[in-house]
Amino acid sequence: MGNKRIIIMGASSGIGYEVARLFIDRGWLVGLAARRTDLLSELQAQAPERVRIQGIDITDQEADQALQYLIAALGGMDIYLHVSGIGKQNKTLDPEIEENTFQTNVVGFGRMVGAVYRYFSQKGKGQIAVVSSIAGTKGLGVAPAYSATKRFQNTYIQALAQLARMEGCHIDFTDIRPGFVDTALLSGTQHYPMLMRPEKVARQIVSAIEHRRRVVVIDWRYAVITYIWQLIPRWVWERMVVRTRRK
Ligand SMILES: NC(=O)c1ccc[n+]([C@@H]2O[C@H](COP(=O)([O-])OP(=O)(O)OC[C@H]3O[C@@H](n4cnc5c(N)ncnc54)[C@H](OP(=O)(O)O)[C@@H]3O)[C@@H](O)[C@H]2O)c1
Repeated sequence: MGNKRIIIMGASSGIGYEVARLFIDRGWLVGLAARRTDLLSELQAQAPERVRIQGIDITDQEADQALQYLIAALGGMDIYLHVSGIGKQNKTLDPEIEENTFQTNVVGFGRMVGAVYRYFSQKGKGQIAVVSSIAGTKGLGVAPAYSATKRFQNTYIQALAQLARMEGCHIDFTDIRPGFVDTALLSGTQHYPMLMRPEKVARQIVSAIEHRRRVVVIDWRYAVITYIWQLIPRWVWERMVVRTRRK
């Protein structure tokens, strides 16, 4: 896999940053994107000859054009990893939080993944990996927009996987669903159980991409939890109290 070319959207912090470090260490050609280009430059300094960066805001209507520039700068793309996302608990349904979440996790996500699908379908092959979440397994009362948008991502990837087969396109899809990870996304007043280190999660993500897994829950404890969640009938789920503790 030595000279593979991967583009990571959302590489400036947290999970994406750690995954980027691992692919750079592996000697891959790596394209990095996010809004905070100063943080991307730090990663690029690790291997300037193999790393290209591009400032991209996926909520911007021109974001797919900016992605094309990055693909060209890298000399092409074999794998696209979409990590960009936002999420907040929002029990008051603050409209700004809900709408920003829709814009980033649905509109921006669909814009970028759609552009990449069209690129790979023209090229004849490729791999699209996305970091969604276990939050898409069920509707979560404490984070309605976040859980709904993550479910959207799961379903969108499933739809594209079926479309690619119907059209005879050799595109592989990897839907990565982590449990709680200790990153800025969770920073706040809540205590999150079974918190995982982003470095550990990143190693499992790299393995899932290299093995072209279709769906991966990280880690095995969350795989068990979400399996059980899926078995809970709707009328029981809607009467359950599912929330985190204050710190
Ligand atoms: N932390 C968890 O517990 C957890 C669990 C499951 C899934 N996830 C998912 O993992 C992904 C990464 O989150 P994280 O935990 O690593 O948090 P993070 O450190 O806040 O990282 C979020 C990344 O998304 C990028 N991003 C946000 N809005 C963007 C936009 N409009 N355009 C381009 N990039 C944007 C950020 O870059 P810029 O701000 O520089 O643009 C940053 O690189 C998210 O999709 C999240 O839903 C997280």
